[in-house]
This record gives sequence, C-alpha cells and structure tokens, in this order.
Amino acid sequence: MAFDISRRFMLTGAVGTGFATAACATNGASTVAEEAAFPPEAVSFDPYLLGPKKGVALLSRNENPYGPSKSALKMIEYAAKKGAYYASREAVTTLMSMIAERNGVEPEQVVITTGSGEALSAIALIYGPKGPIVAPRLFWDTTALYAAKLGMATIERIPLTAEMEIDLAGIEAKVSDKTGLVQLCNPNNPTGVVTPGETIRASVKRMAAKTTVLVDEAYIELADDPEGTSCISLLKEGHDVIISRTFSKIYGMAGIRVGYTISSAETAEKIRNTAMSWSPGTSYAGAIGAYNDFAFLEYSKNKVVEGREMVLETLNVLGLTALPSGTNFVYFKSGKEANVVQKAMMDKNISVRGQYMDYSEWTRVSMGKIEDVARFCKALPEVLGA
Ligand SMILES: Cc1ncc(COP(=O)(O)O)c(C=O)c1O
Repeated sequence: MAFDISRRFMLTGAVGTGFATAACATNGASTVAEEAAFPPEAVSFDPYLLGPKKGVALLSRNENPYGPSKSALKMIEYAAKKGAYYASREAVTTLMSMIAERNGVEPEQVVITTGSGEALSAIALIYGPKGPIVAPRLFWDTTALYAAKLGMATIERIPLTAEMEIDLAGIEAKVSDKTGLVQLCNPNNPTGVVTPGETIRASVKRMAAKTTVLVDEAYIELADDPEGTSCISLLKEGHDVIISRTFSKIYGMAGIRVGYTISSAETAEKIRNTAMSWSPGTSYAGAIGAYNDFAFLEYSKNKVVEGREMVLETLNVLGLTALPSGTNFVYFKSGKEANVVQKAMMDKNISVRGQYMDYSEWTRVSMGKIEDVARFCKALPEVLGA
C-alpha cells in the first residue's frame, strides 16, 4: 500500500492523552457522587434521540429511513462488541479496496472519511486559500461555508438557469487557473436536478484543465443512470477531478458516518492528511457489510422512486411546478412562502424544508417512509388552500 495511515493513529494518541488527563481529574470523585450525577434514569435510552419524534413524518432531511440494511447491522453489532479497540488498518484497507474494485481505480485513490462531509470540508480547506470556490448558486454548501467561516475560502456563486439547472457555461466563464476549486453537486441538492453525464463531463473536462473540479455525487445512486451520469471516467482519463460519495443516502447509514472520495493518489494523500478525524470500527464494518448488498440498494431505490411518483402526481394534480428529481427529494414551487408552508406542515406533524436563500416560494420535500409521503400528499392541498 503506497500510503500510510499511521499519522492518524499518532493523532489518536495525542487526543487520547488529553482525554486521559481530563478523566484522571475526576478519578478522585466518590462513587456515591458519581451515581448522584448519573442516576440510572439519566442514561436510559431516549427513543427519540436518533430519529423523528413519534408521529412526525420526517421529510425535511434526505436520509433513507429503510436503512441500515441487515447486512450492515450484522457487521455493526459485531464491531460494537469490539468497541474497546480502534478500527484496524485492515478494516480501512478492506473498504478502500472494495470501493476501488467497483470503480476501477487503485485503493490508494480512495479516502474514507467520517461521512463525505469531512472529506468535503478538508477539500475546502486545501483549495480555498488558492482562490474562490466557484459553484452554482444553490448547492450543498455546508463545507464550503465551513472553510469560509474560518477565513480559508470565498465562494463565488453562479446563478442557476431559468430552468433551475446548473449553468455550466456561466461557471466555465468564471473559471481560470486562479480559481481555487469548482464545486458541483450532481444530482444537485436542494434542486434534485441531474445534469446529464455527457454535458457535465464535457464541461468538467475543460474546467479541470485550469483548476481542480470536485463533483459531489452523494445522490448518484438514485439517478436513473448512475454510471452514465457519473464523472468518474474523467478521473480515470487523468483529469484533475475529485468525486465524493456517501453511505448516508441510499445506504441508509447517515448516523453511522462513512463517506469517501476518489481522486488521483496525490490528491487523495492531501485529503487524507487534512481530514481531522477517522471513523469508528462500527462505521467501517457497517460500510463493508452494506457496500455490495445490491438487493437492499434496489429495495431502497424502489421506495424512493415510489415516493417521488406519489409526490409528483400530487403536484401535477395541483398544477404546481416541480423539478425533475434524480434524488430522494423533490423541489417544487408552491406559490406560497416556503417558511409558511413549512410551519403549516409542521402543525400537522409533517416536517419539510423551509426557504433556501431567496427562493422564497420553493419547498423541498424528502422521501421518508411511504406512509409519511402519503401524509404529505394528503396534507398539501389543505396547507395550500387548494
Ligand atoms: C449533496 C450532499 N453532499 C454531502 C452531504 C454530506 O453527507 P455525509 O457527510 O453524511 O456523507 C450531504 C448531506 O446532506 C449532501 O446533501
């Protein structure tokens, strides 16, 4: 293996030492005092801690409520029992190799992180200081904003087209060798729109001749033609491209926290050296269990497609504009203030997203469980007074 993750384990040692010091400071406390501070009922499990409150249809976030798969759970349970230990190097390299094999790249081109968010944050920190991060006006901007808040990046947002698509020509016109990074999300969030593979690849190829292009493919498995849509072939042709993906969406493992990037080995090393954390053994084990569970992936995608069709049919009957979606959410123009719609839905225990930027009349609804999507479809005409 051409890389070394020992740096992370050295870091582990440093963090561990700090924690040990803090823990020692409390060692003198009496058992009685500790019991008073942590009575048994205080540590009893709160059933709402890790999901929607009872009765709430959670359609404001893009998690897959049908996950994790049984194949993942089996491995997570095994790994949890070994929770006294740090994840082994073999766990990391096994997952890297599985991802590499499916995508036709070398394992050292794969970086596994604590959710793809960690890799995306690292990328923003690496490329932000070089020049602006050029991106569509609406994209999943959390990690670019993270670097911006630290003074490590600026974001140059290019308006969407009139059809709410990513304006690739507009973005290309802004890109030069002074650009820090181009960040695209395909399919995009929050619009759900898929930029066709041939279109995005032609544009990314031209831009990558000038600067690094990051394509966040968090939802790619939910597009009609994931392989035909992906930009991964550009990477294999040697273009300066980073692809990020996640186990948080179709795999239904958002709380397990595993994501990854695929890039050149050189870029991978930079990302690995900048990422601040590492996933627990349960995460690697769960991801290894889930990665090739194609039956679960098909089941989940079918549920998402079923939900999407229900929502699109409802919007169609109401005569509302909805964007075509290749994701597990639909962005539609309700004609009413998004935050008002959100509040009225919440009054019915249905959680949808509020306003994004100045898109005041657009609402994003995600595909939760089918019965929850059905509740949304029933409530929408009432909420809109239609
Ligand atoms: C487009 C996109 N990319 C990345 C992420 C980060 O997900 P995670 O850190 O769980 O992999 C999200 C989360 O919602 C997202 O929507």
